[in-house]
Amino acid sequence: MVAHHTHVYRKVVREIAKATVKPRLARNKDIASNFRALFAQSGRPEDTQRFHHDMQNALTFLRSQREYKALLERYNPLIDLTAEERIEATARRVAVSSSETLTALHTAASCLKDLSPVAFPTETVYGLGAIALNATAALKIFSTKGRPADNPLIVHVSSRRMLQTLLPQNYTLSPSYELLIEHFWPGPLTLLFPCDHSLIPDIITAGQPTVAIRIPSHPVARALIAVTDAPLAAPSANSSGKPSPTRAEHVLNDLNGKITIILDGGPCEVGLESTVEDIKRVLVNGFSDTDTPIPQILVHRRDFRDDALEQAPTTPGMKYRHYSPSVPVTLMHMSEVPLGIEPLSPSAFLEDLKRSMPHSPNALRVGLLMPSDSILMKSLISDTTIQWREFPFGLVSEPAIIARRLFDGLLTLEREGVDLILVEEVPEENEGLAIMNRIKKAAGSSQWIAIP
Ligand code: TXA
Ligand code: MG
Repeated sequence: MVAHHTHVYRKVVREIAKATVKPRLARNKDIASNFRALFAQSGRPEDTQRFHHDMQNALTFLRSQREYKALLERYNPLIDLTAEERIEATARRVAVSSSETLTALHTAASCLKDLSPVAFPTETVYGLGAIALNATAALKIFSTKGRPADNPLIVHVSSRRMLQTLLPQNYTLSPSYELLIEHFWPGPLTLLFPCDHSLIPDIITAGQPTVAIRIPSHPVARALIAVTDAPLAAPSANSSGKPSPTRAEHVLNDLNGKITIILDGGPCEVGLESTVEDIKRVLVNGFSDTDTPIPQILVHRRDFRDDALEQAPTTPGMKYRHYSPSVPVTLMHMSEVPLGIEPLSPSAFLEDLKRSMPHSPNALRVGLLMPSDSILMKSLISDTTIQWREFPFGLVSEPAIIARRLFDGLLTLEREGVDLILVEEVPEENEGLAIMNRIKKAAGSSQWIAIP
């Protein structure tokens, strides 16, 4: 009986993963742990029957939810409407109620159709969008950002139907892609597809054999694409090399005078892109009871190194210095001291800093991006001869908050005029993998600290 329960339980958890809408992970964890608790209680024989019954009911409910979601997607009410009707319907669907927002969407869409770029919010970072299938429009993204021409753009679509219009004619999605799309779209996952060069302008792919596509989940992003009724190419809305903007204000500070419209959707929810751990969980759950082999997930520099690739990167994202504010950033390590490196005590580090940093006669101004319960921070700020600027960064145990605030922290501290920013490392697991990837690209130097 227990073996059967385990089987049903696993099915339920898998259905939860498939059926629940955003925010998937956080909500699933709660539901899964409730089920686990139930399961643990069901040890007594008189509860077993009842538990089994509850599980079956839950399974039926979740399956129907999933079907409902699939139906909604298939009968997307925006598909066959006129432009005016589409604006109305989009507005209702994304709960845009103010006429001001409607007008803004309308104005932005006509700006895009005039081939001018528009900055808009997505759930990850703000994007700088232009009509993807128009090379002239896409070119303006490059000139506005100062983006190297060999760095390709992600194309954003608002529906599976729109995705289909961009794919080669005889192309069918692999089971892995079907699974990933079902779980992560709309949302912060970009997938690479084979590129039909007769459809997609070369400027979008910059000579890559693939085109990068995603369906964002941010209501304003989806509404804008649907209202414009065209796929939008969009990189992050920052000057090339700078940290990605996560608030409209960041875009304004950086690109003021270069673009005419920024749609303000408030702060971005995710702050960084989707994590590898999520992808792995979905593939393992989805294929574990099937004949399809579970694809391997390999993270560059975690699971493999490729020196030839690092010397001559084929993926442009690996090539350029990235995410760097104009003030120096130092990555502060407390763990895993590499061989040959002697860690400093906090006070020795600060003495070095005061000696080596050019600063105003008053005091060195140092920005801190560290969790509010960091022992390193506590130890550093006891030196009162330095002017500390602490940016709220969540707790050590809250990597999702750290992910959301990282770019905001870099940009805000830069704007406050600090001489230097110190960022504390986070463990490289779950969201920490993506956070550390960005921090390492932003930091010009690293320092190991040992607290005596
Ligand atoms: O969350 C995001 O991905 C945001 C929002 C706006 O969607 N977009 C974004 O775009 O950050 P961007 O251009 O800043 O970063 C996209 C990365 C770049 O490093 C680019 O080189 C890489 O994706 N990329 C784009 N197309 C590619 C392709 N076909 N093959 C390999 N890498 C590609
Ligand atoms: Mg970028």
